[in-house]
Amino acid sequence: MVNGKTSLYGIIGNPVVHSLSPVMHNTAFAALSLNGIYVPMQVRNVADGLRGLAALGFTGVSVTVPHKETVMEYLDEIDPVARRIGAVNTLLFRSHPDSGAVVSRGFNTDWLGSNLALAEQMKLEGSRILILGAGGAAKAVGFGLVEAGAEVVICNRSEERGQELARWLDCRFCTIDQLAGIQADGLVNTTSVGMEPHADGIPIDPDLLSGFSVVMDIVYAPLATTLLKKAAAAGCRTIDGLAMLLYQGAVQFKIWTGKQPPQDVMRDALLAELAGQ
Ligand code: ATR
Repeated sequence: MVNGKTSLYGIIGNPVVHSLSPVMHNTAFAALSLNGIYVPMQVRNVADGLRGLAALGFTGVSVTVPHKETVMEYLDEIDPVARRIGAVNTLLFRSHPDSGAVVSRGFNTDWLGSNLALAEQMKLEGSRILILGAGGAAKAVGFGLVEAGAEVVICNRSEERGQELARWLDCRFCTIDQLAGIQADGLVNTTSVGMEPHADGIPIDPDLLSGFSVVMDIVYAPLATTLLKKAAAAGCRTIDGLAMLLYQGAVQFKIWTGKQPPQDVMRDALLAELAGQ
């Protein structure tokens, strides 16, 4: 029941209409009998949005596309790891103990979400992992893997963008044409290839899949992407796109509430929501 004591949470982005985060976090609040509510908020101007959230007394907020980088300009504090990555996906608001003023702090949980998802299926330290893509998601995944002691290879359609990320990660870059020559333990797709309405798309030649032990896709619509179906058929262990979403959200939940996130019910809620969409 929403009442005067309800803590406010939400997600800012543009668009947010298809976000699965509200159902994930609201289900978690209910499962732990916490008096909180999490709402989607379409925000065009992030500076105005931040002022509004602070003034309205929000406790925690997720940040999604296109605000993950720009939001950093308007925060009072930024977690050192989020600053290194250059992107924030989690905000925590608290009152300053002396002045009572609202203090906003930004975190990045995407890289942890990716590491937790992959670590369920493989040892990261010392493994070699090929990342397809060079956007914001690839940056978070790559950062996490390098932190965990994995050797990363970046492959991207646009060579310039791929090389830039590889330089930032201090790792190797390969072109799509060179993929056949890459040996790696794991493969992570961070591109949108295979996403509905182009679900028959696949970001790598399926004949190459048998060379990987583990294949993770961050696309979750559909959940069983063509990549994951072909990877399973080739004998790989697969990790679907809900895993990173779930774990980055679980880490957010811990930051906001201090409580252990009820991951099983959060994942069930995500699955039910996807099935109903
Ligand atoms: P995000 O921040 O979610 O990672 P993004 O910054 O738009 O999203 O990055 C999308 C990634 O998917 C990029 O690596 C992009 O490749 P380019 O840099 O060459 O654009 C990749 N991508 C998107 N559509 C693709 C397609 N049809 N084929 C291959 N790569 C694609």
